[in-house]
Amino acid sequence: MPGRIPPAFIDELLARTDIVEVIGSRIELKRSGQNHKGLCPFHGEKTPSFNVNATKQFYYCFGCQASGHALRFLMEYEHLDFPSAVEMLAGQAGLEVPREAMDARAEARQRRRKSILDVLAQADAYFREQLRRHPNRARVVDYLKGRGISGEIARDFGIGFAPPGMRNLQAALQKSNEDRDLLIAAGLVREDGDRSYELFRDRVMFPVRNLRGQVIAFGGRIMGDGQPKYLNSPETEVFRKGSELYALYDARRSGHLDRLLVVEGYMDVVGLAQAGIRNSVATLGTATTSDHIERLFNQVPEVVFCFDGDTAGNNAAWKALQLALPAMEDGRSARFLFLPDGEDPDSLVRAEGAEGFNARLDQATPLADVLFDHLSQGKSLRDPAARAALAKDAAALLHTLPTGVYRELLWRRLGEQTGLEPEHLTQLHWTREPPRPEPERGPTRPARRRHPAADKVGATLIRYPELVDELHTEHLRRFETSEVTVFISDLAGIILADESTSPRLLLRQITDESQRRWLEVQLQAERLLPADAMRAEFRASVERLVGEMESYEKQRHKQSLIDVPIDQMDEDEKKLVRRMHGSPDDDVPF
Ligand code: UTP
Ligand code: MN
Repeated sequence: MPGRIPPAFIDELLARTDIVEVIGSRIELKRSGQNHKGLCPFHGEKTPSFNVNATKQFYYCFGCQASGHALRFLMEYEHLDFPSAVEMLAGQAGLEVPREAMDARAEARQRRRKSILDVLAQADAYFREQLRRHPNRARVVDYLKGRGISGEIARDFGIGFAPPGMRNLQAALQKSNEDRDLLIAAGLVREDGDRSYELFRDRVMFPVRNLRGQVIAFGGRIMGDGQPKYLNSPETEVFRKGSELYALYDARRSGHLDRLLVVEGYMDVVGLAQAGIRNSVATLGTATTSDHIERLFNQVPEVVFCFDGDTAGNNAAWKALQLALPAMEDGRSARFLFLPDGEDPDSLVRAEGAEGFNARLDQATPLADVLFDHLSQGKSLRDPAARAALAKDAAALLHTLPTGVYRELLWRRLGEQTGLEPEHLTQLHWTREPPRPEPERGPTRPARRRHPAADKVGATLIRYPELVDELHTEHLRRFETSEVTVFISDLAGIILADESTSPRLLLRQITDESQRRWLEVQLQAERLLPADAMRAEFRASVERLVGEMESYEKQRHKQSLIDVPIDQMDEDEKKLVRRMHGSPDDDVPF
C-alpha cells in the first residue's frame, strides 16, 4: 500500500525537471525573450497568452489565469490526481517515488478496502459470466436487445446478469467465513438472523466503477415491471452514493473529453452511448451534490445537466445550480438542458438520434440565464420592491462565486437588471452560512471575511484533524499570508501540537472567538466518512485553494505595478507591464 509521498521528494523532483520540457512536449512553445509562449491549452484562444518561465519554473496564462508549476500542469493537462502526476514526472526523470510508512491503523483499513474491492471484482466477473452462460440468458439478452442495447455496448459497460436465487454468489465465491464477511461488507449479501440472502436476484446488473476502473457497487434493474425497478448497492467502505458518478470512468476512457453530460439513470448513459454519445454520466439515485460537481469540473471545463422539464426537474436543477456556483471558476461553464415532458435522454436519443440530441445540447441554457430567470420569475422588474427582492436573493447567491471575471460579469448583470451599482450590490448582506449558535456575551472581534475554498479546507480539517498531514509546510506558509486563510494555519498548528486530542478539545484552544464559533458550527455536521475516504477530496480542496491564491496574487501584483516607477521594476515586472499596455515585447525600448 502506498503511503504519503514525502514533501522533500516533491521539491527534489521539481528541481530536477524542466518545466519548458514538460510543457513543450505537450503543446507547441515558442521562445519569446526569457519566456516561452504558446496557445493556452486550458481555454480556447487564437493568439498565444500562455507563458512558461524557465527561470521561475512556472507557467501563467494571461487569458485564463491558469498558473502553477510542472506538477500542476500535468494534473490539469493530463487530468491526473496529485500522486499520479508525481509518478509520471518521476518516471520521466528516472526517479523512484518514495513513500512514507503508513501507521498500522491506516494500513489495516487499506487492506480491508482492498479485500472488499477484490470481492466486488469477483462478483462482477460472475455476473458478466452469467449473461454469457446462464440457462435463462436468452430472456436477459432479449430484454437488452429490446431496449436497443448491442452486445458491444453491454460489454463496454460490463453489463451482467444476477440469476434468480438467494445463494448464487455465496455458492460461487464464498469459501470461508472471512469471504462471507466480505460479501456482507461489499453490500452483496444481507444477514437476517442466522440466515443470509443475496441482494441482487434476477436482475440486469450495471457495475459502478470508480475512476481507476475498480467496481465499487452495482445497480440492478428488474426485467419488466416490478418494484423496486432499480436496486442499488448500499453505502459501504468503498462506495459513497453522494460522490460517485456512474460511468465517469467510461466517459474518461472514451477519448478526449471537454464536456460531460449529467443524466439521471443508468439506462440514459447506456442508451446515449449506444447512439455514439459517450460523454454522459449519471448520479446514483441521489440528487446532485457538491462532491459530484467538484468531480465533474476536475475532469472537464464544461458540464451540461439534463433535467426533466417538470416541476420536480426544475427544483432539482435549481438545487444543482446553487451547488455549482462555488465551483464556477473562470474557464468553467455549466449549462442546463430541460427535457420535454415524459422523456428521458434514453428515450429522446432513440427517437431523435444523436444528431437530434446534440442539437438540443447545443441549445442548453447557460447557468447565468437559469439563475436570473428563476429569480425574476413572476416579478415585474418595473416595481422597485421586486427589484430589491431580486437584488437581495441574487446577491446571496453571487457571493458564493469564486473571485474572477465570471463573478464580476454576473454582478454587473444584476446591476443592469436592478438599476443598482454593482459596488452597492456586493455590499448587500450575505446570509447563507449555516445557522450560527447563539452569540455568547463578551467582546467579539469582527468576523473574518469568508472565502468558500478556504472555508471548505477549514471545515474539513476540524472534522478530520488527521488530514493535517496533507498540509505541507509550503501550504501552511502560504495560508499565513492571507487574512482569509490564516485560520487554517492556526488550526493545523494546534492539531500538530497535540495529535491525540479530539476536535472538541482542539476547538477550546482557538482564541479567536468568531473563528471558534464558526468551526463549532462546522463540527455539528457529522463525519460522514472515514478520513481516508475524505483524503483525496481534502487534497483537491487544498490544491484548489492554493491555486486560487496564486492567481489572486498574480492579479494583485499586476495591479500594484501600476504605481511602481519603471526603473525600479525587475525584468519580469517590466514584461508584465508591457503586456498590460498591449505593446509587444520587441517594440519596447526599455
Ligand atoms: P428512472 O426511473 O428514471 O429510470 O430512474 P431510467 O433510468 O429511465 O430507467 P429505465 O429506462 O426505466 O430502465 C433514474 C435512476 O434513479 C434510480 C436509478 O439510479 C435510476 O437509474 N432509481 C430509480 C433507483 O435507484 N431505484 C428505483 O426504483 C428507480
Ligand atoms: Mn428510461
